Amino acid sequence: MDKIIIFDTTLRDGEQAPGASLNYKEKLEVAGALENLGVDVIEAGFPVSSKGDFTAVQAIAKNIKLPVVCGLARAIKKDIDAAVEATKLARRPRIHIFLATSKIHMQYKLKKAEGEIIRLAVESVSYAKKFCSDIEFSPEDASRSQKDFLFQVIEAVIKAGATTVNIPDTVGYTEPEEYGRLVRAIKENVPNIDRAIISVHCHNDLGLAVANSLSAIKSGARQVECTINGIGERAGNASLEEIVMSIDTRKDIYSGLKTGIHKKNIYKVSRLVSKLTGFVVAPNKAIVGGNAFRHESGIHQDGVLKERSTYEIIRGEDVGFVVEGMVLGKHSGRHAFNERLKKIGYNLNKEQVDKAFCRFKDLSDKKKDIFDDDLRAIVEDEICVGKLIWKLDSFEINSGTKIKPVSGVILIKGGKKISKVSSGDGPVDACFKAIDKITGFKAKLEDFRLEAVTSGKDALGQVSLRLKIKDAIISGSGSSTDIIEASIFAYLNAVNKYAE
Ligand code: KIV
Ligand code: ZN
Repeated sequence: MDKIIIFDTTLRDGEQAPGASLNYKEKLEVAGALENLGVDVIEAGFPVSSKGDFTAVQAIAKNIKLPVVCGLARAIKKDIDAAVEATKLARRPRIHIFLATSKIHMQYKLKKAEGEIIRLAVESVSYAKKFCSDIEFSPEDASRSQKDFLFQVIEAVIKAGATTVNIPDTVGYTEPEEYGRLVRAIKENVPNIDRAIISVHCHNDLGLAVANSLSAIKSGARQVECTINGIGERAGNASLEEIVMSIDTRKDIYSGLKTGIHKKNIYKVSRLVSKLTGFVVAPNKAIVGGNAFRHESGIHQDGVLKERSTYEIIRGEDVGFVVEGMVLGKHSGRHAFNERLKKIGYNLNKEQVDKAFCRFKDLSDKKKDIFDDDLRAIVEDEICVGKLIWKLDSFEINSGTKIKPVSGVILIKGGKKISKVSSGDGPVDACFKAIDKITGFKAKLEDFRLEAVTSGKDALGQVSLRLKIKDAIISGSGSSTDIIEASIFAYLNAVNKYAE
């Protein structure tokens, strides 16, 4: 079998999506989840870009055991030094150097001629090679580069020591046949290409990132760069789960190819990334959307009951999506609760189980039937919270059609209760303003989404929001059967992340 190397760039290109920023602890948590998912390479960040990125890459390098840990660098000595330093404790470090090769980028962005680009590419790869044997080179905007020049650059960097050459479709401009032809042309025209792995990196500006990546695989690319839920710059990157499941589902087409991904973990990692970035997954998103395995039409339901394969090409449970009816209720005990958590993929430590069980008991007083999605929301709330600097004690609201909404919020900080009252445009706004009075932060609400976790009037409401505090964009989420309380939890989740 030919292995397709899964290079995950959720923590680098994914995190570049506007508003997707993750804190140190969250990055480590995502890296651990990616390792459990079985990715081959984790691009952990761009170490020179900020101190935060540097320390996160360093910590990931130290903690991750199996995957290669990669740091990004421009073709500049200080970038390479930072990437080398940040990844040096990894069991298997990689330095990823990029430099644009398209006329547009060379002329307008870099203001450099072809000869200088080749010189910089070679010098930077040779320099990085002194510190690290695993070097990847990306001719940025490769899909819009002049082919002959691209071939020359690739040949030169392989000669200088690059072991992987990545062919980025940086602006999501290419289309599947064209991109497949480009990879074939590289194989045919770069004399030393057998000494490197061809990688592909596609953006989704025309909605073709996955199709382009798959086409490149058919032409001989053996590494795919992708992100969980397809998050990334602008319209995002190729989605990991769609690529992996395409290769797995269409074995007739991708015969002899396999990935090392543990499919059963896909849904869980997707939810974690969605939760931590605040990027809600659309219900109709392939593989990980809430509706991906649900059949609504009577004809489809009838067909699936008679023979599953009539309308299902993938079984939800294969990617960890368990569609189940009512699972637990008021009288369910800790054992049943924990067993159910294990069945849907959560192995929590004792302290986490205790906390989640308390939440479950609270919820079962308010909601008769507890479904798997409720359990996921509870667990994610419990295991995704960082330090609780400010904790909700209680709140009150007074709102109606003829009065200005007013809220009173009491928060606890360091064991001390602090209360404030505020009016607002609505009850949620009034609560957020009262919280701001307590914390002293002037937070701007950039995005706010409310979703029902399951159906029914007593459903758990899940709020995902994004705040801007000074120059930082922070996401937060929270759930409760009371949507005002869910909003407060989400707001505090973001505020606590900022204050940490
Ligand atoms: O899209 C792109 O070209 C990139 C490179 C840094 C690989 O992200
Ligand atoms: Zn990219």
